[in-house]
Amino acid sequence: MQIIRNASLTSHRMSIRTSPTRLSAWSAAARSFSSSSPASLFRNSLQPVAHDEAHSDPRHARMLRMLMFGKPGAGKGTLSGRLVKKYDIVSLSTGDLLRMHINDRTEVGRMAEEIVAQGGLVPDELMLQVVTSKLDRLHNKHWILDGFPRTFAQGELLNTHLNKQNTPLSLVVNLDVPDDIILSRISDRWVHLPSGRVYNLSYNPPKVEGFDDETGEPLTKRPDDNPEIFARRLEKFYSTTSPLLDFYARLSQAHISTPPHRHPHQHPHQLAFHTTPPHRLMMQSISGTTSDEIWPELERVLKDAFPGLKERVESADARRRHSLSDAIASASMNAAISK
Ligand code: AP5
Ligand code: MG
Repeated sequence: MQIIRNASLTSHRMSIRTSPTRLSAWSAAARSFSSSSPASLFRNSLQPVAHDEAHSDPRHARMLRMLMFGKPGAGKGTLSGRLVKKYDIVSLSTGDLLRMHINDRTEVGRMAEEIVAQGGLVPDELMLQVVTSKLDRLHNKHWILDGFPRTFAQGELLNTHLNKQNTPLSLVVNLDVPDDIILSRISDRWVHLPSGRVYNLSYNPPKVEGFDDETGEPLTKRPDDNPEIFARRLEKFYSTTSPLLDFYARLSQAHISTPPHRHPHQHPHQLAFHTTPPHRLMMQSISGTTSDEIWPELERVLKDAFPGLKERVESADARRRHSLSDAIASASMNAAISK
């Protein structure tokens, strides 16, 4: 596979970093974007989530705050979508966020459009503000971040932000899929832009060709899914994003001193018992080429480490209503942003 280095894009990013005028323009755009905070940006965000924190096994109190990590096309969006459909989890994809803004011609979208189209990375300052404003609304929810962080700086900033809120990451999953498998998937990929739902003509085709299963709206091709741009995205992953795996490996091995666990009804003079700290970061790499290999392993990791996760109990009818609400929320968000 040919990897193409994009020199002009790199210098563009550097000029953004070094120019205060550009930087403040990015920050202003991020602030205006953050304030819109559309509910529809979180998959299944409209459903309230209640969690029983007072269980005797400390693992039941452990909240899923997860990074879905992996190369472009590894299946991050597909597997996050599956988890969200089955469990009380919300997920946030920075790629989906950016595509919505590009589609809606917002200020953020206009700034990001060319970079995304060329397979580059949107500047850290903008991405961080975009993401943290959403994370702050996820207290007491199980969540997955897909596509963030993508640089070392984003990783450190995210870590600092979450630690300040006392909501550190609890799981990093690295989807390890061979490059040749990914390349063959991408040509068959179709997406539903408002929800981020992903289809593949051979793996998970839509019920009606060209249309989203839930809303019946048309599916589109991503402009950055052509072979040349995809090669560039893969190169960016290896050069800039994959080093984060070492960063998280170190964090997961770091000693965390937490007080011994006490049962809520334990007598104060009884000895407390030591267990695995509920806030310890776990890291798991899952290798595979098919969903049969990856999905059961992913589910096993989550169930073992987060037994407090609850399955959704929605009826098919409620699910239909829910996806309709998502579509309506998305439409009203678009209207609000374009004002
Ligand atoms: P983003 O949208 O995040 O793109 P990406 O990381 O390149 O990942 P993809 O969405 O392409 O792949 P995926 O892993 O979600 O795979 P999918 O589930 O679709 O980001 C786009 C752009 O936005 C970036 O290039 C950048 O410019 C910008 N950006 C975003 N975040 C940023 C950040 N933090 N900082 C700076 N810039 C940022 O699956 C792929 C295909 O495979 C599908 O067709 C699917 O149906 C199929 N498939 C999935 N799983 C399986 C399976 N198990 N078996 C068979 N087929 C499968
Ligand atoms: Mg994706």
